[in-house]
Amino acid sequence: MQHEIVLKDGTRFPALGFGTCAIGDWQQDDDYVVDTILKAIKAGYRHIDTASLYGNERSVGKAIKASGIPREAFFVVSKVWDTEQGYDETLNAFDASLKRLDMDYIDLYLVHWPNPAKTQATWQALEHLHAQGQVRQLGLSNFRPSDIEQLLSFAKVKPIYNQLELHPYLTQRALCDVCDKHDIYVSCWSPLGSGTWSGVPTNEKPIADAVVLGIAEKHGVSAGQVILKWDLQQGRIAIPKAESDKNIKANLELDSFELSAEQLSAIDQLNRDHRYGGDPDTAYEGNMKMQVPD
Ligand SMILES: NC(=O)c1ccc[n+]([C@@H]2O[C@H](COP(=O)([O-])OP(=O)(O)OC[C@H]3O[C@@H](n4cnc5c(N)ncnc54)[C@H](OP(=O)(O)O)[C@@H]3O)[C@@H](O)[C@H]2O)c1
Repeated sequence: MQHEIVLKDGTRFPALGFGTCAIGDWQQDDDYVVDTILKAIKAGYRHIDTASLYGNERSVGKAIKASGIPREAFFVVSKVWDTEQGYDETLNAFDASLKRLDMDYIDLYLVHWPNPAKTQATWQALEHLHAQGQVRQLGLSNFRPSDIEQLLSFAKVKPIYNQLELHPYLTQRALCDVCDKHDIYVSCWSPLGSGTWSGVPTNEKPIADAVVLGIAEKHGVSAGQVILKWDLQQGRIAIPKAESDKNIKANLELDSFELSAEQLSAIDQLNRDHRYGGDPDTAYEGNMKMQVPD
């Protein structure tokens, strides 16, 4: 049985999603990507995370169609990129995403990174799409406490979650507390300590940490499974990306063990505030140089 998130409006989706950033390579969008996502769907994933910036929305749509499983069985997440923010720009970006996905609606649409100067206009575009039924839920990504407070000062539709870089070396306790206070779920990106895009060797990631490996050995599972269970047991969503059959399968097999309170706390204590990806305090300029492909 998969851990499920149940929203106030009755919407349910699996807490464990499939990350699709840089499958194969950065912005790769071809049969290899379709086949990898299809493999994940066959393994049991129904919650799939993409973004206009990933350049692979076509592959996500094709894999879902090729699976033969009804569209309604999936929870598809996409995101509006920094260069696409603003009211009209966001509506256009959404249209383009929907066309690439070849779908009638997106389950959850996120603001990929905060840009306080444009947040209100972008969010109002999202609220319009929500009112039209083209987006079922709205959400945030990389929003800091001040960004959340700003958004909540005008939002008529509340975000269901905030997708953050979160793993044992970056536990983001204070930000999670702000999300909790406002009933906003936390979704963890790079939950295992990032994909190959970061260039970080595996032995420097939390999946190679001695404490995590020790706990994994006690339960007869892998370090990756322990980290994902650490997220789910604490009510978080996680969206690991995997390409190997072994990892795709293992990341869904989290029901055979339970971490103790001591084990959860031992992993919490590994925090060293270490980011593998961008920092919302400084990411803006670099992000604006990254273009969404057609
Ligand atoms: N909102 C944002 O700003 C943002 C930013 C970055 C990422 N994301 C999202 O988060 C998703 C996940 O992040 P990510 O792709 O950076 O990294 P990740 O999921 O933390 O790590 C992926 C890497 O871990 C390996 N792996 C997967 N399962 C494993 C397991 N059980 N044991 C050992 N290794 C395992 C994968 O190997 P193989 O592929 O070889 O199996 C891959 O190299 C992305 O795909 C994307 O959807 C969002």
